[in-house]
Amino acid sequence: MKEDNNVKIRVSQLEKTFRNTGGETTQALVSVNLEVHEGEFVCLLGPSGCGKSTLLNIMAGFKRPSRGEVLIDGRRVTAPDPRYVTLFQNYGLFPWRNVLGNVEYGLEVQGVPKEGRRRVANQYISLVGLDKFIYNHPHELSGGMQQRVALARALAVDPEIIFMDEPLGALDAITRIRLQEEISRIWRNKEKTIVFVTHDIEEAVFLADRIVVMTPCPGRVKSTIPVPMGRPRHRTHPDFVRVRDQVYVELQLEEEEILDYHS
Ligand SMILES: Nc1ncnc2c1ncn2[C@@H]1O[C@H](COP(=O)(O)OP(=O)(O)OP(=O)(O)O)[C@@H](O)[C@H]1O
Ligand SMILES: [Mg+2]
Repeated sequence: MKEDNNVKIRVSQLEKTFRNTGGETTQALVSVNLEVHEGEFVCLLGPSGCGKSTLLNIMAGFKRPSRGEVLIDGRRVTAPDPRYVTLFQNYGLFPWRNVLGNVEYGLEVQGVPKEGRRRVANQYISLVGLDKFIYNHPHELSGGMQQRVALARALAVDPEIIFMDEPLGALDAITRIRLQEEISRIWRNKEKTIVFVTHDIEEAVFLADRIVVMTPCPGRVKSTIPVPMGRPRHRTHPDFVRVRDQVYVELQLEEEEILDYHS
C-alpha cells in the first residue's frame, strides 16, 4: 500500500535509547520525524554522535527503535528487506571474490540465472568504470575502486532505496569528489530514493535535494534545508555557496549551543 503524496519513507516520533554496559543510558534519538519522498536524495548531516547512523540503521531495519516507527510504502519496518540496500563505510566486499563475483552476489541471492547475472553485473561494473578490473580481487584495488564495486553491487539488484552511511568517508578529497559526481549521475539516471549520511557540508549540498541537519545530546533533527538547485552542480556557483553558508550557520549555531549546554 503506497501513501498518496509520494512519501516513500515516513519516520514518526522515533526514539532510541541505548543502555550501556555500565548501566547508564544514552538518548541517541528523541522525537525524530522525517519524510523521504520517492526518488528523493536526502542527506543526514551532523556532528559525530548526533545519531545519524542510528537513524539510518533503524530506517534500514538493522536496529529497532525504543519508540515510534518507520514506515516504508506505508508498511512498518521490522527487519532488513532485499528491496532496500545499505552501503557501509567499510565497503563490505567479499575478499575471496573478484569484482565480477562481488557484483553478482546480490543477483545470486535473488536467484537470477548465471547468464543474466553476468550481463547485469557487467553493465553495472561498466557504469562505475571498472570494466578493466572485473577479475581483480578487493585487495588489488584502491579504496575508491572498492567503493565503486560496493556501489555497483548495490545498484545491480535494482533496489528501490539505497541507504548509505558515510560511504566516501575513507577516501582522499579528489577521489571523493569524483565519486560524488558518479553517485549524482547514477541517481539522476536511475531515479532511486537515497538516504545518505555524511558530516561533510559540501558533500551534502552537492548531492541532496534536502539536507536534514541533526544535532547531538540528545540526537534529534534540528532543521531541514532544501537545496533548490538543478544538476550537475558547481561548487563555485553563487547558489551553491549560499546554501553551503546557510548549512554552515546552522551547524555553527549548534556548536555554540553545545558550549552553552556544557557550561
Ligand atoms: N550500540 C550502542 N550502545 C550504546 N550507545 C550507542 C550504541 N550505538 C550508538 N550509541 C550512542 O548513540 C549516539 C549516536 O551514535 P551514532 O553512531 O548514531 O552517531 P553518528 O551521528 O553516526 O556519529 P558518527 O558521525 O561518529 O558516525 C552516540 O552517543 C553513541 O555513543
Ligand atoms: Mg555514524
